[in-house]
Amino acid sequence: MLPHSDAFVFFGATGDLAHKKIFPALQSMVQQGTLDVPVIGVAKSGWTLDQLRERARDSITKYGGGVDEDAFQKLCELLSYLDGDYKDDKTYEALRAKLGDAQCPTHYLAIPPSMFPVVVRGLQKSGSANNARVILEKPFGRDLVTARKLNDTLHQAFPEENIFRIDHYLGKEAVENLLIFRFANSFLEPIWNRNYVHSVQITMAESFGVEGRGKFYEEAGAIRDVIQNHMLQVVAFLAMEPPTAMYVDSVRDEQVKIFRTIPPLSPANIVRGQFHGYREEAGVSPHSDVETFAAVRLEIDSWRWAGVPFLIRAGKRLPVTATEVYVKLRKPPLSKIGGDGRNYFRFRLGPDIELSLGGRVKRPGPLMVPMPVELSAVKYTSNDEMDAYQRLLTDAMKGDPLLFVRQDAVEAAWAIVDPILGDCCPTELYEPGTWGPADSRELAADIGGWHDPM
Ligand code: BG6
Repeated sequence: MLPHSDAFVFFGATGDLAHKKIFPALQSMVQQGTLDVPVIGVAKSGWTLDQLRERARDSITKYGGGVDEDAFQKLCELLSYLDGDYKDDKTYEALRAKLGDAQCPTHYLAIPPSMFPVVVRGLQKSGSANNARVILEKPFGRDLVTARKLNDTLHQAFPEENIFRIDHYLGKEAVENLLIFRFANSFLEPIWNRNYVHSVQITMAESFGVEGRGKFYEEAGAIRDVIQNHMLQVVAFLAMEPPTAMYVDSVRDEQVKIFRTIPPLSPANIVRGQFHGYREEAGVSPHSDVETFAAVRLEIDSWRWAGVPFLIRAGKRLPVTATEVYVKLRKPPLSKIGGDGRNYFRFRLGPDIELSLGGRVKRPGPLMVPMPVELSAVKYTSNDEMDAYQRLLTDAMKGDPLLFVRQDAVEAAWAIVDPILGDCCPTELYEPGTWGPADSRELAADIGGWHDPM
């Protein structure tokens, strides 16, 4: 494993990502005692350090659950600001000077991907990339070809083990719990396969729209925004083989293996939708064909999962905000006693966290009939997104790669969705507040329909 990093540099210090996620995470890290190194914000805004501190206060007030004066004071002492043009060598020379005798700094690229090559080159030329690590956020490219190009750019200055790609779903308690629940219990393994599991579905529903991110969303759409990354990571945790404890990268190896056993999707496996009104959003073309909803049906071509449908559905302006996994088990054989009810596992991944097992017991009374019950194993709420960033940034500073996406996983995940990117099939309009286009129901018709999270 890498040594603990001794400086934290973030490009895009005055931007949106820093405002929403990075400052709150930094305050939490100070509170937890995991951040005690120089923190250098870089941007080209003509700001002063005091202005950046004000921005940090505002960020933590709005998104970080409030300012903790002691921790905030400490963060302000660690914080410095470097104003400079990313295209100018002098910016990186000044950064190198500011880094002083730091031996293994971390550079967080909280900037648009189009700037990555420029910044990576600047870091390399100035010597700031030596022994350093880099953190970046999805989207890791726009498709398989551009993802490979991005990886080539990064590898010019950073070896793969020094690259920390954030998919914040991997920092979520509820997602990590999938791994623990699967591999820390012996009762599950005998049934966690095609012999007992009937189908798996994941719904990521958001009741809100694109919230001022129209310009970004036009470039992304639901498949690039959440299916290629967040949703496939969840599939990998649900479906992977048990990782061995014998070496550090075993979990990530199993993730990649799952992606490689999913055949590339075809237009027959997808329904794309767009909510009515999307084209009137700022930054959105009046003729946009971008999907704000996608439902896909995939297979996993492995000994464990052959024949078990895995369905994913993700969309904006749906009836609720909830991400839920629903694993339906096969029917019990005696339908006279069991009715047509089934057992299932329900994993609520957000915004609250829940893990329940659906079963049937006798309905009290004179008749021998079953009724459904849910056994709840886990149920709580957490400030999940903030926790995810704090967790991931702490791990990156520590040099722990477990919860970061490796190059081969990024590329294998793109290979799955590549054939369905762009206008592979028409986009159907749906009304806000509904469960997406009617055709998406067809995709799940033979597995008993979609399970709608409450
Ligand atoms: C982001 C997407 O990666 O994840 C957003 O860009 C989406 O469009 C968000 O809303 C969802 O994250 P969470 O943690 O709220 O489920």
